Amino acid sequence: MKRRIGILTAGGDCPGLNAAIRGVARASYHLFDADIIGIRGGYRGLIEGDYHRMEESDFSNILTRGGTILGTSRTPFSQMRDNDDGVDKVDEMKRNCRAMKLDCLVCLGGNGTHKTANLLSEEGLNVIGLPKTIDNDIAGTDYTFGFHTAVEIATDVIDRIHTTAASHGRCMVIELMGNKAGWLTLYAGMAGGADVILLPEIPYDINKVAEVVETRANLNKSFSIIAVAEGAMSQDEKAMKRKEREQARTESVYNSISQRIAAEIEELCGVETRTVVPGHIQRGGTPCAYDRVLSTEFGVHAAQLIRDEIYGVTVAVDGRKIIHNKLSDIAGVPKLVQVDGPMVQTARDINISLGI
Ligand code: F6P
Repeated sequence: MKRRIGILTAGGDCPGLNAAIRGVARASYHLFDADIIGIRGGYRGLIEGDYHRMEESDFSNILTRGGTILGTSRTPFSQMRDNDDGVDKVDEMKRNCRAMKLDCLVCLGGNGTHKTANLLSEEGLNVIGLPKTIDNDIAGTDYTFGFHTAVEIATDVIDRIHTTAASHGRCMVIELMGNKAGWLTLYAGMAGGADVILLPEIPYDINKVAEVVETRANLNKSFSIIAVAEGAMSQDEKAMKRKEREQARTESVYNSISQRIAAEIEELCGVETRTVVPGHIQRGGTPCAYDRVLSTEFGVHAAQLIRDEIYGVTVAVDGRKIIHNKLSDIAGVPKLVQVDGPMVQTARDINISLGI
């Protein structure tokens, strides 16, 4: 029996999206009679009816390509039912799925994407999720694809900063992506041998950070490396209400957390300090080998689920097993770094400071 599969990529892009799309497509063509409809620009394309039938050749030569051949957009979950513009976007998406005669919809994305995927599933559509994000913050899976590539890129940044920091005897503050979850900073900080790792989950005390820089200076280790997640906050900020904190940041003379920490370190320790913000470089370019394999495994598992008509789930990895979880169990549940988890303990045990 022929299956018509709609596929979209939503939210921030990351390396491995094309490898996953290819995995879904190749396994679907192989396992059953498949027609694949590519939906452009994430949920925006589904709302607006921007889609096209894809050919098998569209999935050639994309394994190593960064970004997403389907395009993506951020359509906030909070606006899905918003009728400000007189349009119920969920109704539009359901209407377009009917127009495309889809048997199922495969949504590749992060936390926001999964919340909408779950909503569409609750509305009666056959939906399968694939978890991507460099933040690695989706519940129920050890890893999301894109994460390991971002760790490689961020580690390379730290390695390169190490040599220039050592030459000049400077403190370098490297700000990595991750607003709520610090996985990327924790992994890259450990892989790159950072002296201090600051995460959104563990509010820091700047005096403790300064102590590390000073102690290293006194030991004639004239440089220090601080890896900080963009969403990290001080203990004082943590004590504020969210709105109050946002207001304070807007009014601050510093544009970013790394700038603020650098200024405070210079003032407290008198050590020359510089900042580095690799930003979207962490999401760009070709996926690393691990992500190519994981994306392919996820894509193939999705095709097997379609063959077996199992919907309302998202694919995941548990140890070395590829599994699937119910969308309703994981949607809206961010996976954060556990303050007393094994990775944090490992960092502590080799005397990396977490800033507390
Ligand atoms: O969710 C992935 C992510 O890269 C976060 O780490 C970062 O905070 C955010 O996206 C940046 O979003 P945008 O690309 O929309 O600026």
